[in-house]
Amino acid sequence: MIQSTLSIIKPDGTQRNLIGKIVSRFEEEGFEIAAMEKRQLSLREVEGFYAEHKGRGFFEELTTYMSSGPVVVMVLRGENAIDRNRQIMGATNPKDAAEGTLRKLYAQDIGMNTVHGSDSPAAAEREIGYFFPKTAIF
Ligand code: CMP
Repeated sequence: MIQSTLSIIKPDGTQRNLIGKIVSRFEEEGFEIAAMEKRQLSLREVEGFYAEHKGRGFFEELTTYMSSGPVVVMVLRGENAIDRNRQIMGATNPKDAAEGTLRKLYAQDIGMNTVHGSDSPAAAEREIGYFFPKTAIF
């Protein structure tokens, strides 16, 4: 099934000039980049995006970090894009990430873990809509 999913290259990825490598990997894996924008997110925007994590111990660290520098937000489209993107990213904690995954290759720790990806069809729909109007997705 062709799906769309939201991907974010986090501040540690943009700061280390990893945008090209990460986007190349997604294209090599057969995804289309259906939308893409480099953005400096405000604390409010990040708090809204990660609202489901509100109240968890890492929420403040997460939102401060994600608003600390520019990110790249993207819509990836392809066969089983939601699960396949999660496999390509690897486990949230790079210590647990499989060889060859983006987080194994590039992530520094569970917070600075280089990429985000939607974890379900409902999340993908919400997260894509959070950043992109339908008219900006091609
Ligand atoms: P992400 O896929 O962007 O979704 C939520 C983020 O919270 C996650 O990646 C991690 O980078 C971050 N995070 C920080 N600490 C933790 C933690 N202890 N457990 C889960 N996620 C964490």
